[in-house]
Amino acid sequence: MKLKRTVNCGELRKSNEGQTVVLNGWVNKRRDHGGLIFLDLRDRYGITQIVFDTETADAALLNAKKLGAEDVIAVKGTVRLRPENSANKEMVTGEIEIVARELEILNASLNIPFQVTDRSTGLEDLRLKYRFLDLRTKELQRTIAIRHRTAQAVRKFYSANGFYEIETPFLTKSTPEGARDFLVPSRLHHGTFYALPQSPQTYKQLLMISGFDKYFQIVRCFRDEDLRADRQPEFSQIDVEMSFIDEEDIMNLTETMLRQIFQEIIGVELDNPFPRMQYDDAMRQFGSDKPDLRFGCPIQTIDELAAKTAFAVFQSTLEKGGVVAGFCAQNAAFFTRKITDQLTEKVKQWGAGGLAFAKLTEKGWESGIAKFLSPVEKELIHAFDAKIGDIVFFVSDVAKITYPSLGFLRLEIAKMLNLIPAGVFKPLWVTRFPLLEWSDEENRYVAMHHPFTSADPDECQFLWTEPGKVHARAYDIVINGSEIGGGSIRNHTVEMQERMFEALKITPDEARMKFGYLLDALAYGAPPHGGIALGFDRLVMIIAGADNLREVIAFPKTTSASSLMDGSPTSVDEKQLIELGIQLRKTNL
Ligand code: AMO
Repeated sequence: MKLKRTVNCGELRKSNEGQTVVLNGWVNKRRDHGGLIFLDLRDRYGITQIVFDTETADAALLNAKKLGAEDVIAVKGTVRLRPENSANKEMVTGEIEIVARELEILNASLNIPFQVTDRSTGLEDLRLKYRFLDLRTKELQRTIAIRHRTAQAVRKFYSANGFYEIETPFLTKSTPEGARDFLVPSRLHHGTFYALPQSPQTYKQLLMISGFDKYFQIVRCFRDEDLRADRQPEFSQIDVEMSFIDEEDIMNLTETMLRQIFQEIIGVELDNPFPRMQYDDAMRQFGSDKPDLRFGCPIQTIDELAAKTAFAVFQSTLEKGGVVAGFCAQNAAFFTRKITDQLTEKVKQWGAGGLAFAKLTEKGWESGIAKFLSPVEKELIHAFDAKIGDIVFFVSDVAKITYPSLGFLRLEIAKMLNLIPAGVFKPLWVTRFPLLEWSDEENRYVAMHHPFTSADPDECQFLWTEPGKVHARAYDIVINGSEIGGGSIRNHTVEMQERMFEALKITPDEARMKFGYLLDALAYGAPPHGGIALGFDRLVMIIAGADNLREVIAFPKTTSASSLMDGSPTSVDEKQLIELGIQLRKTNL
């Protein structure tokens, strides 16, 4: 390479007029205008227009005629002001152009499978296969830059507050976070496996026991679970742990960090303090433990009013100990029969028997179940604060079905009616989670957060009588309906931890086998401690206004956990399997 850049493609301005410069970059676009060729040259920093005068140019410059999209070139030339009428106000370099004097083609590109200048020219699978090209698009250049800046700001924040960033191992013993582990077979110890960490949970607790006091890490975690728009098999956490603290310390520090990051990265002032809501209220009012507060339509429980209606479904639900609840939305006219039928099908997938509704008109409640509502017509208007032209949706079932199905419906309707404002960020702490939840599948209680979370000390006595009633010293941070993070105060004595294992029906032998190292460490002067982990990718996704984690991860996986670019996962050589002492089962082949 002869022509090494002296400037980048985003930095030249009017004030550089007359300078001789060298630029390196990719051909973004080429336009031929008779004797003139205009090239947009692109790099990470921006785009600069280059002009080749093919009439006066020497032979080397004539090569500009051959240039195609994504060729890599070096150009030497002079900065000139563009004529007033051809200046491009949209571009920071739009007032100047470079008159090319020398051209060096550094590397020609094959014909590209989609336009880097227009992502809509390639479907996502194609773009994932050619991820290195997709990453050249301005959309991904932007989100990756935001990711970088966010990571730096996070590190700066914790470091300034006295935290050490400490790395923890990837080849570990399994830590339960509710997903399946990714396993790594050991070559040196045939028949044994490391688990890639679902989170560094036990390690960060051990670091507290070692006296490090304030730990953080931006760390990769691995979970083999069903993937969705906001779940990747490998993802990053901002993982934090502190000693000699309580819930308030962790929550306050996390809030301060988030407020600082939003301010620094996108200039947004988040609420101060963040609102808080108890888990039970979140479930009852929003049908979710991660309420989206960017719009209204809260759920109201109307058991007493429902009991007075003549609607048999409500009656039978209440007799069976269920609940009747609903929420009000505007624009009743939008909800035609066809749409309410579709919505009914959707709530059925949440286990609800059906979906009832009524529309408020000038003549009172109409359509749907309106004719059954007459005894409580006015009270219902009041309960839902309904206005003429509104519609109320009702679900009646056991609480476990009623609230989540209404919560789902609330979000569906918000999307349909465009109720979610852009550029608004609504954080929320959700607190007082149950410590345990019943698992039909396992026929025992399982930890709602993880088994290291401590119970509300005032409720421990119920662990043996009514385990479902005990609350955890846990908290989740939610932004715009997305669970950004969660944490808890931990069991820091052997007794507390063993009590939890017992409640989870983990036998002492099993506990020793799985977590002996932690139980041992707790016995050697473990300080009271607690922490939190924030989903770093999710945080960046929200800050960047993206709707899928793939938009903020350089090399993401598809929803079936594969990489379309390198083809992983792939089979491996027989030789590698032999070294690892692994023979594949026939069913896997
Ligand atoms: P938890 O399991 O709640 O807690 O995880 C913390 C946060 O990590 C993010 N997250 C994910 N992001 C992308 N893809 C995934 N598959 C995925 N799974 C989780 C979420 C979540 O809130 N050790 C505890 C934390 C603690 O107690 O300190 C833990 O990992 O944003």
